[in-house]
Amino acid sequence: MNDSVSQCARLIQESRYIAALTGAGISTSAGIPDFRGPQGLYVTRRYDPDTVFDINYFYHDPKPFYEFARDFLLLEEKINPTFAHKFLSDLEKTGNLKGVVTQNIDSLHQRAGSQKVYEMHGSFSLSHCLKCRKEFSFTQMKEKLAEEDIPRCACPASCGACGGVLKPDIVFFGENVKCLAESEDLAARSDLFFVIGTSCVVYPAAMIPQYVQGKIVVVNQDPVSLDAGNVVLTVREDIDAFFARVAEQLGYRI
Ligand code: OAD
Ligand code: ZN
Repeated sequence: MNDSVSQCARLIQESRYIAALTGAGISTSAGIPDFRGPQGLYVTRRYDPDTVFDINYFYHDPKPFYEFARDFLLLEEKINPTFAHKFLSDLEKTGNLKGVVTQNIDSLHQRAGSQKVYEMHGSFSLSHCLKCRKEFSFTQMKEKLAEEDIPRCACPASCGACGGVLKPDIVFFGENVKCLAESEDLAARSDLFFVIGTSCVVYPAAMIPQYVQGKIVVVNQDPVSLDAGNVVLTVREDIDAFFARVAEQLGYRI
């Protein structure tokens, strides 16, 4: 058995307050491209992330974002949580995992069954009208996306629809992240903290591991921008393949 697998399994068994920070890399095997990996959006430029996720650009022209959003939500219907999502969910149910901080907007942690998820960059689960703040559900947003280029606040005139552009509650560049205090607190309390599938370059999420006083395990195929003396294990492998071996060692059936 590979040493890093045994070490990781042992760390999990010894720890009482486990937490994780995840990024786009945990969802690539589900079929969602990441940002800075070899097939990432910054490499393929399929969408221009600097335009698509910039809040001032969105106010000026929401079209590029909605082109991305339409594809993303269609993709989301077809995909499933990865092994690593399920592993973290199992670790919450049967082990000592107390929460997951994620930068992802794909809600795959919740779909895998995780209960305590801090979505620093928000999600598509709710949207709001930029003008009147009326709330729209995920289903309403999807229906609108199927019919309108740019979803707007417009139902029968009697309900006072204002025609404002809708914006999902995801965090754009230029906006404040969500759950910052809870995420910092979770990291500070943890005795074992996983950094999984993130390049750790987008702040403030990238700062969360700095609050960890316990041990840190990094699982990411490419180098991560993390300078912390308490990193005890760095695994430069495929995330699912690694956690499948750890699960086997722990006797988990996922
Ligand atoms: P990145 O794309 O920056 O980093 C993902 C990391 O996961 C890369 O280093 C990949 O090498 C690694 N990776 C991908 N698939 C993997 C696999 N199967 N096994 C092992 N490693 C793998 O994504 P994030 O760090 O999540 O923000 O990006 C942070 C933020 O930048 C995003 O939340 C988004 C983006 O701009 C906003 O839009 C606000
Ligand atoms: Zn409105």
